[in-house]
Formats: sequence, C-alpha cells, structure tokens
Amino acid sequence: MELTNDLFLRAARGEAVERTPVWLMRQAGRILPEYRAVRGRLSGFKELVSTPELACEVTLQPVDLLGVDAAIIFSDILVIPEAMGLDYEMIEKKGPWFEKTVASEADLNQLREADPEEGLHYVLEAIRLTKQELNGRVPLIGFAGAPWTIFCYMVEGQGSKTFSKARKMLQQQPALSHRLLDLITRSTIRYLKAQIEVGADLVQVFDSWAGILGPHLYRTFALPYLQQICDAIQEAPITVFAKGAYYALPELGQLDCQVIGLDWCMDVAQARAAVGPEKSLQGNLDPSLLYAPKPDLKRAVKIMMDDFGSRGHIANLGHGVYPDTDPEQVKFFIQTVKEHKF
Ligand code: CP3
Repeated sequence: MELTNDLFLRAARGEAVERTPVWLMRQAGRILPEYRAVRGRLSGFKELVSTPELACEVTLQPVDLLGVDAAIIFSDILVIPEAMGLDYEMIEKKGPWFEKTVASEADLNQLREADPEEGLHYVLEAIRLTKQELNGRVPLIGFAGAPWTIFCYMVEGQGSKTFSKARKMLQQQPALSHRLLDLITRSTIRYLKAQIEVGADLVQVFDSWAGILGPHLYRTFALPYLQQICDAIQEAPITVFAKGAYYALPELGQLDCQVIGLDWCMDVAQARAAVGPEKSLQGNLDPSLLYAPKPDLKRAVKIMMDDFGSRGHIANLGHGVYPDTDPEQVKFFIQTVKEHKF
C-alpha cells in the first residue's frame, strides 16, 4: 500500500522533507471527548485494548480530528507481561495493578516467552484492521515497552515513584534480574516483528523509567537488551525513547536504530552532539506548554523547531500528552509545527 503522506517515515530515515512531521505520544486517549465516549460505553480500558474494532476506532480518531502525520496503535506496554503470564488490571484513577509479581526464581519459572500469535493476536488484528482503515493516509506506529521498564512493572506490580523494589532486585539478585530481562527481550523481539509483519511501518520502544537507573546500571541492565532488540529488528525503522536517560545519549547514539526520542529536559544541541549526526531525533516540547496562552506556545514551538532544524526531526512532545489538555491547544500545536518556516 502506497502512503499518501510518508513525511514521518522519510524524516525517520533522515531524508529531506517539505515540512517536519508531527504526532503526539499518547495522542489516542483521554484528551479527546470522542475517546471518552467510546471508553464510557465499555467495562474498562482492557475491553478497549482487546477489541480490535474499538482499538482501531480510537487509533484513527487523532488522525481524523487532529491532523497528525502518524497513527499509533491503541494498546499498552503491559500486554507483554500479560502474554508472559502476569495478568494486569487497569484501575480507574490509579493505574496498572498486577496480582502476581516476580520476586524469586520460582516466580520466574512460572513465566513463558510471549507467543504473539497466541497471547497477542488481538493487537495484531487491531493493526491489520487499522492499516486497512487508514488506507495509506499516514504511517502506523507499533510499540512495546523497553525491557527495563517492563521489568519495573513485573517486579513492582504497580506504578511507583522510585521503583525501589525493582532496583533492589538489580542489587540483590543480579543473575535473576538478567534472566527476567532476557525473557522480556526475547518476547519483545517476537512481538515487534509480528507487529511489523501485519503492517506497523515503524516501531517505538518506550523506556519510560530509564531516568531512575543512572549511567552505570543503565549500561548493565538496560542498554544490552535495547541493543539486542535494535539488532534483531531490521524489517522496519525503530525509535528508542529513553525518558530521563540524557546520560546515556552517546550510547543510545550507537544503537542500530533510526530515531532517538528526547524528553523536554534534554537540550537539543547537546543531545544532537551526544547522539551524533546520523540519527533522527523526535520530540521534545514540554507537555505543560499546551496549558500556556497561544502566543507563548507558538514561541516555544518556533524555538524547538529551529533548535532541531529542518532535517532529521519528528516533532512531538517530550512525553505523553497530559489527559486534561484542551484538544484545541493540541490542534494549535500541530498547526504551528506544520506552518513553521525555517
Ligand atoms: O500513545 C498512544 O496514544 C497509544 C496508546 C498507549 C497507551 N499506553 C494507552 C493508555 C501507549 C503508547 C501507552 C504506553 C505506555 N503505557 C507507557 C509508556 C509511555 C509513557 O507514558 O511513559 C507506560 C509506562 C504505560 C503503562 C500505563 N498505562 C500506565 C502507568 C497507565 C496509567 C496511567 C495513565 O497514563 O493513564 C496506563 C493506562 C493507559 N494506557 C491509558 C491509555 C489511553 C489510560 C486508560 C484509560 O483510562 O482510558
């Protein structure tokens, strides 16, 4: 299927583009009243994730309503722990919760390598459907959590400010930690390959909790697994977004991936110098700027665009859009990026 708008993929590959493409992390979700309407009819988040027709519907909403240059499949990073044997619940206003967690070798031995065709067929079906419905309008992004971030949820069983249980495991049971990270990595590689096979045009790996490790532990427990994933995925371009890992940008720059995501605390010029000239960069407007008066937002977008330059940039926020953001502000952000003149 030919894409009508392939700006996102060309920018990911570092090719020249007529204008910088733009999308938002967490664009398919609670900021849109149309999403909340679909979600309100259902028993919960998981029903939405596991029903391909509905996942497809909410994936398309930001393409139709906001005019973004890429769609991201509506799902969650937690489908991988589930396919490995740890069921999760999404508790309203609290977030994810796992009844079973991994604390010992016996727990680890209960887990399996995820088989995407079996445990994750609903995501693959949602991707197939969405590709059909998109009909080439914009590329479709597939995704997974990075091994370290998934490890955090599997050990902790829920969100945390410090993820100190997960970090305790790295300190007290390093061999067990590596075994779990290895199992997650193998599951993730199979899952990303399966997403690409059914139509994902690029895959993004979210390392949301990279920032709490620091350079030494990140080198030991995170980067080798990211490297395995990047080396294994040759079928489509890949974006690595390691939030808070400014300290690892030189190493991230060495990965066999096409795009590095930046959060809003990273300085663009410093990040470019650390990553090197080869890769494209994605980001990185502070999501709170969408609360600012329009002239301030416009000024900030202009600075961001000029900092990144016209080549090798995919405009985005520095993290997911906050749920109480006014969709009108999101539209204004997208329009401002599209109208930017270098
Ligand atoms: O980006 C998109 O629009 C696609 C869908 C998507 C979701 N989660 C849907 C979702 C993506 C890419 C994710 C990734 C994800 N999930 C990450 C990595 C990105 C990041 O934000 O750092 C993480 C850490 C998770 C785990 C997760 N899922 C948490 C901690 C929570 C609860 C807190 C929150 O953000 O709501 C979720 C729930 C979740 N995932 C919702 C959505 C739309 C909200 C559920 C609802 O009430 O409808």
